[in-house]
Amino acid sequence: MPKKEVTAQKIHDHVERLGELYPPIPLSSVDFTVRDPEVLRSRYGHVLNYLARVELEVDRNVLEILAVIPGVGENDRFFYQDVWQPQEIQHGLILDQLCLEVGLPPSTPSLHIGLAHYLLGALAHWAPIQDVSRMMFYLSGASTERQAVLAYNSFTAGLKELGEDAIAESVVHPIKRQEPGHFAFYRMSAERLAARMRPWQMWLVQQLRGYSYNLVGTNGEERYKRDIGGLLVTFGLDRDIEAYAREIGRLEARLVWANRNGMEFPPYILDRMNESVELYREKGLYSVPERFDLEGHAVPRRTAEPLRTAA
Ligand SMILES: [Fe+2]
Ligand SMILES: [Fe+2]
Repeated sequence: MPKKEVTAQKIHDHVERLGELYPPIPLSSVDFTVRDPEVLRSRYGHVLNYLARVELEVDRNVLEILAVIPGVGENDRFFYQDVWQPQEIQHGLILDQLCLEVGLPPSTPSLHIGLAHYLLGALAHWAPIQDVSRMMFYLSGASTERQAVLAYNSFTAGLKELGEDAIAESVVHPIKRQEPGHFAFYRMSAERLAARMRPWQMWLVQQLRGYSYNLVGTNGEERYKRDIGGLLVTFGLDRDIEAYAREIGRLEARLVWANRNGMEFPPYILDRMNESVELYREKGLYSVPERFDLEGHAVPRRTAEPLRTAA
């Protein structure tokens, strides 16, 4: 349990500060100068496509929130409507533009909402279940934001190694620095809610998380699991996958499982990671598959169109 009590006011102030600190990034402020589009596309094209799509799916995430939390509270609304959605959609538009700049296809975000969301939403008209729904929303938000930060950290390092400093500093950095504040919102909200949840509610959260946990942007679909497996391998996160699971699952292990038997991360998180990496190794990427071999080594391919490069 957290040492200091998290109050609604504290969460509200945090969201307000995020809104003031980080206005949505205008597309016009971004420098899309790429030194070598072909190398960037070959090495990180699949990553770029994946991240752009996930960011653009923010509108689906908003619909999911509305579906699973009938009568959403003021702090939640303030966060997702006034701060989070406007920031995230710009992340998506900027990354999507970078895809186009380096000759990748535009992203195709999925706006489909699963039946489970509607079902949970229908049950959530009963207040104790609504708390369960809200906890699910906070936990998946926290997991998602943590994955985003770590992906952007790795991406920045990779871009710098390629000498793509403009892209690292003008595209990825401004996006990356907005993500920890989102994580903090979910963490504080989950901590506050956890403090008043009954054991049966927590038990239900445990069951639902175990059943429905997915890595960011996979929506439980095999094609996206293959792609995020490729992302994990490209960033070398598969080399110490337990350390990665610990980074993503620490909060959930503490809040939902009370670190039972020394648990550092819930086992389903590691399971999903291993599953994705295995699917990738077995079947390769779903998107832009022709550019990669099964080990994740890029197979560069020339494009006919002229691309913008550094002078
Ligand atoms: Fe984002
Ligand atoms: Fe975010």
